[in-house]
Amino acid sequence: MNELLQPDWNALQQAAKQAAARAHAPYSSFRVGAAVLWSNGEVTRGVNVENASYPLGVCAELHAVAAGVLAGHAAQGPVRAVAVWADSDSSLRPCGGCRQVLQEFCDGRPQQVLLTCSYGSNWEQRNLAELLPEAFGPHSL
Ligand code: THU
Repeated sequence: MNELLQPDWNALQQAAKQAAARAHAPYSSFRVGAAVLWSNGEVTRGVNVENASYPLGVCAELHAVAAGVLAGHAAQGPVRAVAVWADSDSSLRPCGGCRQVLQEFCDGRPQQVLLTCSYGSNWEQRNLAELLPEAFGPHSL
């Protein structure tokens, strides 16, 4: 991981917020956008995509990670930072499944994956180790 890479938090937050406008959330009306900063400095975005067959809906974070895999960024190093924004006044946290998805791409150092999560017009900071302690991951096998 590039230890010198300092996230541009404002840019990452705005990327997540702007992405959310493209969410496909006709069932929950809960629009989510995510932006992932990779070790190579590239950012990928994702939105939640719901489906009339409800269980097929997928979260924004998963799509942002998948975009990084497809673009080849994930092969160059772990996730460095994540911004997640929802059109809500409540405190947003990634779901358990998305925490596990991020764990897959943290290179065994979840404390170094920094998250900024929307809370109305504010943002709250966490790291992945706080959100998913004692995680199962690639290093567990
Ligand atoms: N959702 C996300 O995309 N990310 C989260 O961190 C929490 C929940 C989506 C899933 C579903 O489309 C909607 O929000 C309501 O749960």
